[in-house]
Amino acid sequence: PAPGWSITADVVVVGSGVAGLTAALRCEDAGLTTVVVTKARLDDGSTRWAQGGIAAALGEGDTPEQHLDDTLVAGAGLCDEEAVRLLVTEGPDAVRRLISTGAHFDTDDEGGIQLTREGGHHRRRIAHAGGDATGAEISRALVEAVRARGVRTIENALVLDLLTDADGHAAGVTLHVMGEGQHDGVGAVHAPAVVLATGGMGQVFSVTTNPSVSTGDGVALALRAGAEVSDLEFVQFHPTALFLGADAEGQQPLVSEAVRGEGAHLVDGDGVRFMVGQHELAELAPRDIVAKGIMRRMREQDAAHMFLDARHFGARMWEQRFPTILAACRAHGIDPVTEPVPIAPAAHYASGGVRTDSRGRTTVPGLYACGEVACTGVHGANRLASNSLLEGLVYAERIAADIARERAAGGLAARVALPVAHAGRDAHPLLPSEARFTIQRIMTEGAGVLRSAASLATAADRLERLHTEAREALEENGKTPEPGVDTWETTNLLCVARVLVAAARLRRETRGCHWREDHPGRDDTHWRRHIVVRLNPDHT
Ligand code: SIN
Repeated sequence: PAPGWSITADVVVVGSGVAGLTAALRCEDAGLTTVVVTKARLDDGSTRWAQGGIAAALGEGDTPEQHLDDTLVAGAGLCDEEAVRLLVTEGPDAVRRLISTGAHFDTDDEGGIQLTREGGHHRRRIAHAGGDATGAEISRALVEAVRARGVRTIENALVLDLLTDADGHAAGVTLHVMGEGQHDGVGAVHAPAVVLATGGMGQVFSVTTNPSVSTGDGVALALRAGAEVSDLEFVQFHPTALFLGADAEGQQPLVSEAVRGEGAHLVDGDGVRFMVGQHELAELAPRDIVAKGIMRRMREQDAAHMFLDARHFGARMWEQRFPTILAACRAHGIDPVTEPVPIAPAAHYASGGVRTDSRGRTTVPGLYACGEVACTGVHGANRLASNSLLEGLVYAERIAADIARERAAGGLAARVALPVAHAGRDAHPLLPSEARFTIQRIMTEGAGVLRSAASLATAADRLERLHTEAREALEENGKTPEPGVDTWETTNLLCVARVLVAAARLRRETRGCHWREDHPGRDDTHWRRHIVVRLNPDHT
């Protein structure tokens, strides 16, 4: 569709979680005119759901070097060490700047930041807010700061495609805006710097901790724009989502790792602590190891879930330290004070994404990415708990600094966008919104926690069939579903699902959160490397 309206800025930031809003604030600090566009409301992304906290070497005796070590171990040989070093050394100051921006973290009796532990961390290193509502507090503080600064924002604006100029440089984005306002319908923000901060893709699976807006829009846009995407096979499954029944679908309540960090035990149906003896850190092993431990025991006992037992916390601690989780459990008729909590793994985080360098630059000039949509190299094959909010902060700041440098060097001139047809939508025909559930089931059955060549081949075939049907409907009788958020999101889900499955089929080993039943060992000889995908111009 051709844009019906357009506005112009130096920078357009797509997404309004910790990464997007931090990028926007720092760009404004640098005097760049910035527009934030976001699919729902400013506070509707994944950031607000983050519980446990934000990791940084802020505690006495802790050092960035130790944080680096824990991150590299969790990443299972695939982290980019330099990217991690930037993260952990710039992290503590980035958190302090977040505090200056208005975020309130929980403090101890001396007024210092209270720190907890989570899986894979050898130290108390996780700052938290409101007990277990860290993301909500960060989101509140950043949304308020953006509003107070008068940063221009467009809500209910689903990003469609990247605009580029004749040199292939980013020139803005097209959007579909729903609502009653100045900017309804399909329009464009023209800007020579585009920052993708669209979050993750958890909705590609049936059961996820992610909100319904996490549909891989940024990765799909980047693929259509010819950018490189890396490590998509590494989908992290959080070990402890609240188990609400075998047929539960969509976003599930999270039970933070911080609950284990404060001493909760994982137990099976017989009350046995099955993680003890599996790893020196038992329940606090890196997330992939705990998720696998849970899945194995579920299979051994033919059980649909395991339990998290924290009855020993007592009512007071539950109420003060984990009020959000307590309320979520009680809303579902479970009282963690008196009974173990049923839990099971759920899709949680895309460790891969749009490939960037240390300045947040993607392989398309002028296109940047930060936060979950990006693959900066800090997570490797398995993200360390609570490094995601930190990555969003640190790399958003690095992007703003890079764009400011570009402008100072005279490299931020306005770009003339080619007509939108160049964005290649025809190769990605719109899917009917019902196909979303089909995609989710295909992915959960074939490319979930446990994968094999056979399960992935079936998933690939079924996804291909969906794609072919949509293409044929378009080519043979010009039929296409009504363009709208649901249909575009479903199309994006199919796009990222196909690439994810292709990468998972290629990686014939088990590493980090990629678990192949038919290749159970880690293969450093052949697979200590990344799978990088770029679509051909005809999008095959
Ligand atoms: C949690 O609170 O368990 C989530 C932390 C994370 O995903 O990093």
